[in-house]
Amino acid sequence: MKISILKIFNQVQNLVKAGVLATVFACFTTNIFAQKAIIIPIETQRHAVALQVGTDQRVGITYFGRKLKTTSEYQLIPAMYRRGDDYSGILNSAYTPSGSRNLVEPAIQVTHADGNTSLDLQYVRHQVHKNDKNVTTTILVLKDPKYALEITLFYKVYQAEDVIEQWSVIKNDEAGPVVLHKYASANLYLAAGSYWLKQYHGDWAKEMQPEESRLTAGIKVLDSKLGTRANLYQPPIFMVSLDKPATEDEGRVLFGSVEWTGNFRVDLEVDPLNNLRIIGGINPFASAYTLAPGQAFTTPLFLYTYSENGKGQASRNLHRWARNYRILDGNGSRLTLLNNWEATYFDFDEPKLAELIKDTKKLGVDMFLLDDGWFGNKYPRNSDKASLGDWQENVQKLPHGIGYLVKEAKNNNVKFGIWVEPEMVNPKSELYEKHPEWVIRQPGREEHLYRNQLVLDLSNPQVQDFVFDVLDNIMTKNPAVAFFKWDCNAVIYNAHSPYLKNQSHIYVDYVQGLYKVLERFRAKYPKLPMMLCSGGGGRVDYAALKYFTEFWLSDNTDPLERIFIQWEYSYFFPAISHDNHVTDWGKQPIKFRTDVAMMGKLGFDIVVSKLAPKDLQFCQEAIKTYKSLSDVVWHGDMFRLASPLENDFASLMYVNKDQNRAVMFNYQTGNRYGSGTGSPIQLNGLNRDKKYKIREINLYPDTQTPIKEGTVYSGDYLMTVGFNPVLNTRRTSVVLELTQVK
Ligand code: GLA
Repeated sequence: MKISILKIFNQVQNLVKAGVLATVFACFTTNIFAQKAIIIPIETQRHAVALQVGTDQRVGITYFGRKLKTTSEYQLIPAMYRRGDDYSGILNSAYTPSGSRNLVEPAIQVTHADGNTSLDLQYVRHQVHKNDKNVTTTILVLKDPKYALEITLFYKVYQAEDVIEQWSVIKNDEAGPVVLHKYASANLYLAAGSYWLKQYHGDWAKEMQPEESRLTAGIKVLDSKLGTRANLYQPPIFMVSLDKPATEDEGRVLFGSVEWTGNFRVDLEVDPLNNLRIIGGINPFASAYTLAPGQAFTTPLFLYTYSENGKGQASRNLHRWARNYRILDGNGSRLTLLNNWEATYFDFDEPKLAELIKDTKKLGVDMFLLDDGWFGNKYPRNSDKASLGDWQENVQKLPHGIGYLVKEAKNNNVKFGIWVEPEMVNPKSELYEKHPEWVIRQPGREEHLYRNQLVLDLSNPQVQDFVFDVLDNIMTKNPAVAFFKWDCNAVIYNAHSPYLKNQSHIYVDYVQGLYKVLERFRAKYPKLPMMLCSGGGGRVDYAALKYFTEFWLSDNTDPLERIFIQWEYSYFFPAISHDNHVTDWGKQPIKFRTDVAMMGKLGFDIVVSKLAPKDLQFCQEAIKTYKSLSDVVWHGDMFRLASPLENDFASLMYVNKDQNRAVMFNYQTGNRYGSGTGSPIQLNGLNRDKKYKIREINLYPDTQTPIKEGTVYSGDYLMTVGFNPVLNTRRTSVVLELTQVK
């Protein structure tokens, strides 16, 4: 039904008469009577953001929430709010400018060519572009009425996944250079009673420590200033629940992230009207960016999904989107592997590696991954103190080069992968001696090292060529290399580029240089699997994952710790992208370690030859079991069932698309007397009308299961009453397979 302007006018007039009309979106309430307002609805399958153009031509956000059935009703929303006065009239700006009437945190702040620092943005035009049947991009052009600065806002909508990506393009049509002091990707505006932020912090081996708290008036900033390895202290992912913290299956929640492999910043500002302004993008810290006349700057993307059914739904939205649209080969398969990092560290040679390649075969995984320590001759890489930058095989350790190992792998019918850290240099290296001008450091100041290394200046095209060549040379000489692990172990200290004229471009140009290399690499090797690693999970974001098939979550592989780390990552990133290795960290038995690693992409980093016979037998069988289940884990939907933060156990499950196969992982995380699953755990994601049988799998040799096979349960029963996996301090991990019975 179309609502006429007259009707709205009458309704609003009545409200005005009743004295109830003072609104959060003040600039629009009066404007809508004057003429037909331009409404720009940005809608996914279930969610909508409504923009509205006022008679003063300013564009505001008037709605964020569940999609309405009747689009024309979005314009009725502003009149429903009376939270106080917005003196500026632009608190809800679609892209808040600085220096004119704005009073709060801006999305954009500039100095014009003539030195003036004010900016006003008015509507010019908008258009909707249909990319395909699922994806639509709304393009909204804004312009300063006094200055030739044009800003285009992009809203890319993935209908079925309920995901939106926003970014902006800032174009300088002025006669001289314009300096961008802040240039956010997106500016959101939400209205609720209270806002609950879940954010993450951490450090090496302590990734993804969660904290959830109520946002108070003022600004909360999530950011990074580390340059490379940008997520070491804080990743660019967060969630905001409206009115109360959302649970797994209930509540309104937004999951957001800046897609940028460098310094990011997210401002969460509860404004004077108790609305939440979210501004996300590149961190403006030390990054004023000068645009020459005619030049445009494209910001990175800001990603979000919104769910009215709790955090589980938001996760599944992001997972589907990531698999379908972002992660390289997101719907493909992955290689199980044996890695030698913890098995040998830097201490290996050809015969030792040849044995490990045989062990790879014996174990039954797909690939052997050679880690750090294979390169450098003048300064051999025998510890982390030397040789980064000198990417030639060490002739002592590998007299016959990588080619020999590739051949050994082939003889054993497994694949071969290799570790690189191409953006870095040790001062003790030939590269450092030859190209000191390629290194990021402050002239005249003492070098400050992180893990004994410095960062190469990727803003320099020569360095970009060098980094590309590190991988390309390996591939050209050894075309059968099947996998790279791309590491990045240092942050940027003493940020200064010997190449750049404008030092405040270093952080941005570094990341753009990195993307240029990755683009080039992918143009030549479109599908080669590659792991994103950064001294653990120091660099995980959705811009980088466009080039990578998977990421290393943490160097902390203690399986107990890992349950918590993987749990938190699982909110944002799908299991197919999680690289989990079974190692000797932690005190748990091999079964527990393997079961935990199975809820992602399974790998091993252990000394196979030292495994007790039964442990080896267990691993060999577990790999076969994993392979039979991997389709469900990699491509299915994930449901978190019992949180280790609220229980002394954790439980989660994956269900395939047809809902005829599922796998449930259960882990005991507490060991107090009597702890375990006293009651059934409700399952999720099954078809209530289908029938399932349940079988415990991945049992350690010669152990019995208390779980009776043969009983048939309806999906309805399992999702209402649940199932008890019988976890206790003697049965600390239980994997259950559910299969539909017809
Ligand atoms: C980083 C990685 C590890 C390993 C080492 C090698 O710490 O996270 O997995 O590759 O580097 O030096």
